[in-house]
Amino acid sequence: MTAAPSPSCDRVVELTTDQLRARLPEALRIYVTAMGYPPVTAQQRAPMWSAHMLRAGWRCIGAFNEDDELTGIGYGYLGAPGQWWHEQVRRGLQDTGGDPDAWLEDYFELTELHVHPSAQGAGLGEEILRRLLDGAPGDKVLLSTPEGPTRAWKLYQRVGFEDVLRNYSFTGDPRPFAVLGRPLPLNA
Ligand SMILES: CC(C)(COP(=O)(O)OP(=O)(O)OC[C@H]1O[C@@H](n2cnc3c(N)ncnc32)[C@H](O)[C@@H]1OP(=O)(O)O)[C@@H](O)C(=O)NCCC(=O)NCCS
Repeated sequence: MTAAPSPSCDRVVELTTDQLRARLPEALRIYVTAMGYPPVTAQQRAPMWSAHMLRAGWRCIGAFNEDDELTGIGYGYLGAPGQWWHEQVRRGLQDTGGDPDAWLEDYFELTELHVHPSAQGAGLGEEILRRLLDGAPGDKVLLSTPEGPTRAWKLYQRVGFEDVLRNYSFTGDPRPFAVLGRPLPLNA
């Protein structure tokens, strides 16, 4: 693991699959707390997060406070045909007359990015995002986020994400989502 200073003074490091596995309950607690989901969602999501770790190009960044408690987590991997999210976005682009191939080839899917509410608002999310994308595979990054004036939305606008799909309905989720993307590397 390599440490780097963050605006919040938390330690921001890359995590291996073994390191995230050892911290998985803690990481999932941050996820449900940040997203406002019921605690049971953490157990439901654990197999999916574990399966994601095995995907090509998987990369994870964690943030730790001075007591070595996890305060933030972000991960992603190379998107590929057959994956649920990839096929959902392809359907959306086809339905809206977009060009799926322009976005859905050689991209890094930013799958999760969460900062514990007690650590939000100090630049930590942006630090994790930048570290995650610095060295991520793919020539572009794609993500989905609920529509609305959220802190996540502000963050993605600030680092130059553009609209890929707006007010999109993923199967099984009633909330409208935006799919956002931008070329990699971030600072090009
Ligand atoms: C989205 C999320 C990861 C962003 O993380 P964050 O640490 O809260 O946000 P950022 O890194 O963008 O920091 C932004 C804030 O830090 C402040 N900030 C930035 N740099 C700073 C610095 N060097 N020192 C102090 N504060 C700083 C900014 O002024 C900004 O404040 P504001 O939002 O009150 O205007 C986090 O809010 C979160 O987990 N949200 C819920 C889950 C979620 O929506 N995840 C994304 C799903 S797609």
